[in-house]
Amino acid sequence: MIARAKIKMKPPLEWPRFPDFPPAFFRQDRLADSVRAARTFYDWTVFTADGLIQAEAYWDDATHALEMLLPERFLADRPHWTGINLGTFTGTFQKAWMRLGYKMYGIEQQDVIEDLHAYGCEGHRDNVFSLSAIGGGTFDFAILDRVFCQRPFYERYEVGKNSSAPPYFAKIRRILKDDGAFIGVLYDWYSRSVVEELASLGGLTLWPMKGNRLGFQVDLSLPPALMPDVMREPLDGIYFSDAKVGDTRMKWFLPANEFVRDVKGARDIAFAPPVREQAKPRKTGSDKRWARKT
Ligand SMILES: C[S@@+](CC[C@H](N)C(=O)[O-])C[C@H]1O[C@@H](n2cnc3c(N)ncnc32)[C@H](O)[C@@H]1O
Repeated sequence: MIARAKIKMKPPLEWPRFPDFPPAFFRQDRLADSVRAARTFYDWTVFTADGLIQAEAYWDDATHALEMLLPERFLADRPHWTGINLGTFTGTFQKAWMRLGYKMYGIEQQDVIEDLHAYGCEGHRDNVFSLSAIGGGTFDFAILDRVFCQRPFYERYEVGKNSSAPPYFAKIRRILKDDGAFIGVLYDWYSRSVVEELASLGGLTLWPMKGNRLGFQVDLSLPPALMPDVMREPLDGIYFSDAKVGDTRMKWFLPANEFVRDVKGARDIAFAPPVREQAKPRKTGSDKRWARKT
């Protein structure tokens, strides 16, 4: 039987902040379009020539930081590997990976593929839950950077039990080689079921990130990882971090995004994002979101 290791935790991953650009760096005509205005960081078409030079410099830094999510074997000979950026928009991030040396392809659900091609990137319009035009085992790695696990995503697929989505990663796994890798950044409403599905694909390593986001690496060449037990792991161990919610100090179980309270020797568990929301000043407090597990 193949030995399964627990999910690995790494120290927080630093991510450079997008600089404050002067208005002269933006093409105001492009920003009049609300789809563009909502995506100013990662849409090359909204920048003037000077702005684009600075934006590309930012994306080079950011991509360099995110490249750390790849297994080390990918870093030695970059041109050897072909990746796919899932949710690439017009390719600003995808092209930064190309400048690093990787061969890259992109898919995007919005109708912007002409802009992607005009920027010198390959890709097509598609949904990450489909990918039907791509053959099995095509890519060495896939990047899913800030596409999944916003609050609406959680409410639609997890609370609403939308049958069209989960399993979330099956279509992505199909297009990856068996010794490949799947990396990305999940928004702060990531949940136990999302991380457990990632763990079922291979060796899983997690990085806490600013804004309660989560960086991940699935190394597909390794056996599936085990989710550590929130009821048994030591509260001062690697899977917990200290969190302050309102005035209350809590223990945050990072792999499943859950807060843990010790109540008379038993652990109470709650999904962290609603507890954080509830603690925001405008909301009234209630304890109903806590579930006693022992
Ligand atoms: C925050 S942005 C991406 C940032 C990313 N690092 C980049 O620039 O490549 C998320 C992108 O994913 C796209 N997207 C969201 N859900 C998608 C889906 N189900 N299939 C394909 N693209 C999706 C959005 O339209 C958006 O362009």
